[in-house]
Amino acid sequence: MKRAKITVIGAGNVGASCAFWAAAKELGDIVLIDIPDFADKTAGKALDLAQCGPVERFDCKITGTADYEHAAGSDVVIITAGIPRKPGMSRDDLIQTNVKIVKSVTQQIAKVAPQSVLIVVSNPLDAMVYTAWKTSDFPTNRVVGQAGCLDIARFRTFIAMELGCSVADISALLMGGHGDDMVPLPRYTSVAGIPVTQLIAKDKLDAIIQRAKVGGGEIVKLMGTSAYYAPAAGSVAMAEAIIKDKKRILPCAAYCDSEYGVGGYFVGVPCVLGAGGVEKVIEVELEGDERKMLDSSVAHVKELVGVADGFMKG
Ligand code: NAI
Ligand code: 2OP
Repeated sequence: MKRAKITVIGAGNVGASCAFWAAAKELGDIVLIDIPDFADKTAGKALDLAQCGPVERFDCKITGTADYEHAAGSDVVIITAGIPRKPGMSRDDLIQTNVKIVKSVTQQIAKVAPQSVLIVVSNPLDAMVYTAWKTSDFPTNRVVGQAGCLDIARFRTFIAMELGCSVADISALLMGGHGDDMVPLPRYTSVAGIPVTQLIAKDKLDAIIQRAKVGGGEIVKLMGTSAYYAPAAGSVAMAEAIIKDKKRILPCAAYCDSEYGVGGYFVGVPCVLGAGGVEKVIEVELEGDERKMLDSSVAHVKELVGVADGFMKG
């Protein structure tokens, strides 16, 4: 059987961690790409990772390079290139720099891997997915953003901490943009099938929701830079669903037009992920406040995309 090929662009904290998770799961051959100034460093990271193979018993060819030719024929490309936020910055503060970076890497990857599925991670996420889509001209099902898998993992972690139960038993739903106005949905969250609202009092659940919403900022304050292990785990879960055609239902930034009345933007919604990329956006019923919160998060995404559009043309 032909091995899958996964390219990760940006070999920094998130990118190197994506390569790590992909290798540990033996998803396929991995190509790590960074800028020419970091070609040696990137080659070193790839070699270090390859040398985990004999210990962990994975057989993956891992290449670290600045040359996009190595990415030719990739099945999945994870874009993590760009600056992360520092304490005091919001994700939106990164837009001017990251639009240029995401545009440039997408142009290069679209030439060598025109059949790939792009998973965008760079922030501000929803505007960067849009940038990658516009630049690549790929069909909308082959461009998707990672944020929901991370945000929902934070929500699930905090619920498990509160209940002292296994994270594996928690199933949750979260929608909207990857900003502090994201929309965790307790009505669609359960623990081994039991609605979470029956297990955690409203005030405690509200505090957990708030902590999940600002979970990225909590880590930036602690570490001085943004999170990477969990963002990478989320990105690789998406890559795995696509490579293995698992039809997993994951929260992803997917193109929504008539869906949820979004009108042609990428926002966090539950999706079926398989070999075709985003194979379906699932529409769930939303009640009054849920709908209002989603609309307000989508309005923020639209504003950011407007700004990104300006920088894309400039
Ligand atoms: P980092 O600074 O550790 O790594 C970024 C890498 O991108 C650097 O190695 C840099 O040299 C590389 N890069 C910059 N321009 C490039 C180009 N033109 N071509 C190839 N590589 C290039 O940053 P980190 O922590 O890995 O974060 C990366 C991005 O991911 C940031 O924008 C961050 O905000 C975002 N992020 C998104 C998350 C999400 O859930 N969507 C979660 C965590 C981070
Ligand atoms: C996070 O949520 C910064 O988007 C990144 O950790």
